[in-house]
Amino acid sequence: MARKRGAKLTIVGAGAVGTSCAHWALVRDVAQEIVLIDVVEGLPQGKALDCAQSSPIEGFSGEIVGTNDYALTQGSDCVIITAGLARRPGMSREDLLGKNVEIVKSVTENIVRHSPEAILVVVTNPIDAMVYTAFKVSGFSKERVVGMAGVLDSARYRYFLAKELEVSPMDVTALVMGIHGDNMLPLTRLASVGGVPVEALIPKERLAEIVRRTQQGGAEIVGHLKTGSAFTTPGLAAVEMAEAIIKDQKRVLPCAAYLEGEFGIEGVFLGVPCVLGRGGVERILEFPLTDEEKEALKLSEEAVRRQVAQTGL
Ligand code: 2OP
Repeated sequence: MARKRGAKLTIVGAGAVGTSCAHWALVRDVAQEIVLIDVVEGLPQGKALDCAQSSPIEGFSGEIVGTNDYALTQGSDCVIITAGLARRPGMSREDLLGKNVEIVKSVTENIVRHSPEAILVVVTNPIDAMVYTAFKVSGFSKERVVGMAGVLDSARYRYFLAKELEVSPMDVTALVMGIHGDNMLPLTRLASVGGVPVEALIPKERLAEIVRRTQQGGAEIVGHLKTGSAFTTPGLAAVEMAEAIIKDQKRVLPCAAYLEGEFGIEGVFLGVPCVLGRGGVERILEFPLTDEEKEALKLSEEAVRRQVAQTGL
């Protein structure tokens, strides 16, 4: 009989987002075994060792190893894919597509070989096309391939709403659907603070400005950093999803899931509210949208289809 073991999480890519994932996954005790893998020699080893050395101070017991060898990722329960180029000022997420599609293809092939039972959480940009790439290349069922972004975009939206209302961000609930890009759909109708609709508290024009700032949330940070893009919250958002999967938490999180008719959309990945558990995307929570929301989601869908067409898959 196989020896009972703790959960194993692999993070592919030891850049800023991958390292942030490793850090958060350790601190939150997401898995007993964490592997950080990258093609650059020494990079994952150094980053993993740095993360591991925070254990006596923070008090976590999970193990992390950095490697360039996929053999060490063997038998992972969940794999977060962050490998790829990041945005620089003036670049859209789509500008990364050509290079990143090749990277995600090769990463996915390696992962499937060593972890045929894993659930894949894709973070590489442009996310909605990269998660499609991982889905096609892996041959995994739609439940086992999911894209990050809704958790990040909703966190940004919640943060901006909380600042506006001068309340704790913890008490703001909000949902961002659609593409991880300018056409994302931060729903104002469903955003609330302690159960009170924000539309009753924030004037319409101001709310529209918050929506726009959320849609440009990634670009705002790229503009400040100049040499890269956001990593702390993107890493945490991916780990939140991996944790829900590994610990079978049945969390309801907005994720890029493969749609087969939900919200009237077929055959693409798009951000929708999902139940995440050990089976991956266990359910999509479909609900009626207003005509305006349907139109906005249509724009998201069209933008994703344009990206997917460029993948050649
Ligand atoms: C962002 O929105 C990296 O796309 C990511 O910050």
